[in-house]
Amino acid sequence: MGSFYVTTPIYYVNAAPHLGHAYTTIAADVMARHRRQRGDDVFFLTGTDEHGEPVADAARAQGLEPQELADRNAERFKALMPRLDVSNDFFIRTSDPEHVARVQEVLQRVHDNGHVYMGTYEGWYCPRCADFKVENEIEEGNRCPIHHIELTREQEDNYFFRLSTFQEPLERLYAERPDFVAPRARYNEALAFIRGGLQDVSLTRAKLTWGVPVPWDQGHVFYVWFDALLNYYTALGYARPGEDLTSRFWPATYHLIGKDILKFHTVFWPALLMAAGLSLPEHVFVHGYLLMDGEKMSKSLGNVLDPFEVMDRFGSDALRYYCLRDVSFGQDGSVSTAAFEARYESELANELGNLASRTIAMLLRYRDGAVPSGPPDPALAADFDGLAERVGALIDRAEITAALDAAWRPVRRLNRYVEEQAPWNLAKDADRADDLDRVLRSLAEGMRVAMVVLSPWLPETARRLLAALGTDDLSLAGARLGAGTLERVERLEPLFPKEAPTAA
Ligand code: MSP
Repeated sequence: MGSFYVTTPIYYVNAAPHLGHAYTTIAADVMARHRRQRGDDVFFLTGTDEHGEPVADAARAQGLEPQELADRNAERFKALMPRLDVSNDFFIRTSDPEHVARVQEVLQRVHDNGHVYMGTYEGWYCPRCADFKVENEIEEGNRCPIHHIELTREQEDNYFFRLSTFQEPLERLYAERPDFVAPRARYNEALAFIRGGLQDVSLTRAKLTWGVPVPWDQGHVFYVWFDALLNYYTALGYARPGEDLTSRFWPATYHLIGKDILKFHTVFWPALLMAAGLSLPEHVFVHGYLLMDGEKMSKSLGNVLDPFEVMDRFGSDALRYYCLRDVSFGQDGSVSTAAFEARYESELANELGNLASRTIAMLLRYRDGAVPSGPPDPALAADFDGLAERVGALIDRAEITAALDAAWRPVRRLNRYVEEQAPWNLAKDADRADDLDRVLRSLAEGMRVAMVVLSPWLPETARRLLAALGTDDLSLAGARLGAGTLERVERLEPLFPKEAPTAA
């Protein structure tokens, strides 16, 4: 049994959750669910990033204390997880006292190891990113390339982290571990940033109070990014009361992040871990943006596809499927309600939903719901043999859209199989009862295997369809044609109703 630890970024609580946040979380959930199906020991972490300027400024604008705004919005992020049918093992909040204590302990060690000094920062800063921008990160007119707002000139006395001294160790890391960052273009981008020359970075802020207090100087709080990055490590210390999961799950197998936070995860984070004497994650996978009207979807830009609205009308599986299907995970891509509806109709309702309804209906009509026993049709072997392994190999590289493609192939194959075999004709001919038996059991068994493999993307649909087929076994060991022991099927309500009910 392998151990597998996957994380999402922790989300800023300065605004309510939107589809961009749901996106990374769904992708991590697909990986976690798949690895559990393989029998691995899995830990899946998500949560909220609550300190620093982005939250303090948003709270002030609403006349609230930062903690009040954090409490309010953290609840909304927490509530998003079950709505998305996401199976996170813990939800971390960086205002958790256990997190705060462990951040202080680790960063005190970084300080004691000689990686910290007092200096003066002068330069450009984006309060929305909470990011001190270096020269090649500044857009025309002194603007933030992400938020397009004017950068502010900051000058303050801060403690600095000696990032510059990690230039060589980081270059070595990238040389030795070409799969540390994926996709390849992001690896190249991170390495170029490192080779461009690293400057020391602020580790603390003197001007802010909404943060983790610096143990060796009460006048400072830690710069929010160091506090935030450490969540991946601190959570393991207290996620299970009375138990420390660190040795079981550290280092993380996968950090999934959006490309906006590449520098922090592929440069600062490994350097910080080295400075603290902790081992480095295996992989950082950097996905692209979901775009609407050619811009990164974000609450502040006002161009969002509301995940709650979509789920109220079409259910969580449809949203999960759409996000990972329409935009290749790792690339940027546009999303729209029109594209969503087209895929819902043609793929979920027609290809999968109809296939399931027809299969169950024919078993009920021709065989009174009994699944005929015997081996599956060898004609299906080519498309089913090795399926779970093919999908698994892609998931292991976080190629989640390619993995979905591979997992969807059996659905298409079974649709062709129904048309080729035309069971409704076989049913008219009493001499062909054996042939009809073979076709019906092959369809039922094929649906079972397809749904087991697809269940990380479509957990609710898999539960319902497998229940109608009389099983709840999700293990991938059983995801082979003929491994099933189906006996009876039951009526199934349409999986993806065409006229989706609108929420009350
Ligand atoms: N709090 C930091 C992350 C700290 S991690 C130690 C942060 N938070 S955030 O709320 O701005 O969320 C950033 C993440 O949300 C992105 O990295 C990405 O995973 C996801 N996305 C936000 N908007 C997105 C899109 N429009 N498209 C795809 N993902 C997006 O940065």
